[in-house]
Amino acid sequence: MRIQGKEYRTIWYEEKKVKIIDQTKLPHQLVIKDLKSVKDAINAIKIMEVRGAPLIGGTAAYGIVLAIQENSNKEFIYKSAEALIQTRPTAINLKWSVDRMIKKLSGVDDNEIFEVALNEAKEICNEDEKFCANIGIFGLKIIEDIYNKKKNTVNILTHCNAGWLATINWGTATSPIYHAKKKGIPIHVWVDETRPRNQGANLTSYELNEEDIPNTIIADNTGGILMQRGEVDMCIVGTDRTLSNGDVCNKIGTYLKALAAHDNNIPFYVALPSSTIDWEIKDAKKIPIEERNSKELSNIDGVNSKGEIENVLIYPKKSKSMNLAFDITPAKYVTKLITEKGICDASSDGLRGLFK
Ligand code: MRU
Repeated sequence: MRIQGKEYRTIWYEEKKVKIIDQTKLPHQLVIKDLKSVKDAINAIKIMEVRGAPLIGGTAAYGIVLAIQENSNKEFIYKSAEALIQTRPTAINLKWSVDRMIKKLSGVDDNEIFEVALNEAKEICNEDEKFCANIGIFGLKIIEDIYNKKKNTVNILTHCNAGWLATINWGTATSPIYHAKKKGIPIHVWVDETRPRNQGANLTSYELNEEDIPNTIIADNTGGILMQRGEVDMCIVGTDRTLSNGDVCNKIGTYLKALAAHDNNIPFYVALPSSTIDWEIKDAKKIPIEERNSKELSNIDGVNSKGEIENVLIYPKKSKSMNLAFDITPAKYVTKLITEKGICDASSDGLRGLFK
């Protein structure tokens, strides 16, 4: 998608380096950063220079490429793979992608291993881009149906950033929105700010602005009253891990939006590529929920009068704070799942019907 009129993907390989858009600097500065080693890739995922389930999967795949570039010794590759998986616990795409890389490399000769790894990392990213485009084509139908009934601007609420910046391109939740825009359907997006890291305000609003899609940032607690007032036609969010029974783990606050949508009879959609489905864990309580540094709550980044990014304390110095990064929305509150293979019920039958 576009930034300042130029087409970008979120990650690519060039001259022995992996290039990323440093998302900790957005929306104030556009910084393209080089990852030169597996350590750089690990750090970029940990400190969220790259984030979003599909993109951390893609970065981990390129992390393996960087590891091989440094040292093609098998032990080093396996240790690097383990370290990449440990960077963030909740998004299943990370493990999915590292496991796929390791499987692809097993039995490959030393003289070929780098080329095979690079091709597989590229394939993982190309596939994600294709899957997200498909999600957009399927999701477009839902937006079109609302527009055909309403004959007026479709108001869509989204949480966090499940946009192209969270994937390789298109996004999951935003892909239907971008496809609707291309079709000329008038859209307006309510963007949940998404405290504490403000991925909605900093990233979703930014990327929608760059694609000329009208949007309004709202505080995380505002969605409920907008739904009561009839100002939301549908909600659409992404996910970091969806269980085979349709339970959805996503950015903290998603559950509360789903409850409000349910109470107001507003459809609540979850968009995901199949790399986000966890076919193993059966009980949502067993999903590892990331708890991040509480400084992400007590301190906030902003831009000062000199245009520099500054981090300031906003809480009382003595107060304790707690920063759970994800929550779980039970399948019963999810209207449908939108995947690269089509739309299905958030249930075992629904998912198994699409992914045999
Ligand atoms: O902590 P983040 O910013 O990595 O969380 C991202 C989300 O929760 C997204 O909604 C999710 O990864 C879906 S990405 C298309």
